[in-house]
Amino acid sequence: MKKLIVSLVTMLAVATAYAASEKSADSIEDRLKPVGELCMAGDECAAAVVEVASAGGARSGEEVYTSKCAMCHATGASGAPKLGDVAAWAPRIEKGMDTLYTHAINGFNAMPAKGLCFDCSDEEINAAVDHMVAGSK
Ligand code: HEC
Repeated sequence: MKKLIVSLVTMLAVATAYAASEKSADSIEDRLKPVGELCMAGDECAAAVVEVASAGGARSGEEVYTSKCAMCHATGASGAPKLGDVAAWAPRIEKGMDTLYTHAINGFNAMPAKGLCFDCSDEEINAAVDHMVAGSK
């Protein structure tokens, strides 16, 4: 009799555990559902996202300048040569464009590397340099 009770209790416990795991499996599935609606890499929808990102292409020098460089180069903050300041730019332009590109990308004294635009490509930085130099001659 005792043995029977033990095995009944065991069965009950197992059944309960089974039911509980069944239930939590359901809710896990529920919680996972939205993930299935997300774009996974390689999906068609993900390809569309990549396309949009690259369709935007490189930002123009003016765009990069306005959004990233102007905070220093429009105000002269920390001694940054201002766009349009011919006297400030002339000795820099004399160093040659390659030097200016290198300094803009790698930093130069108080000029931070890439002007703190870490998502800018080298080409975008160079375009921003071109924009500043063209406007400061
Ligand atoms: C946090 C302020 C700051 C930001 C942002 C900034 N610059 Fe500068 N930049 C400076 C300062 C200061 C100098 C002057 C450094 C010196 O001559 O000692 C400078 C100098 C330069 C020079 C001249 C380098 C030389 O060799 O004479 C170039 C080119 C330049 N910046 C490009 C850029 C570009 C492009 C951006 C945006 C992508 C940018 N900067 C963003 C502060 C900044």
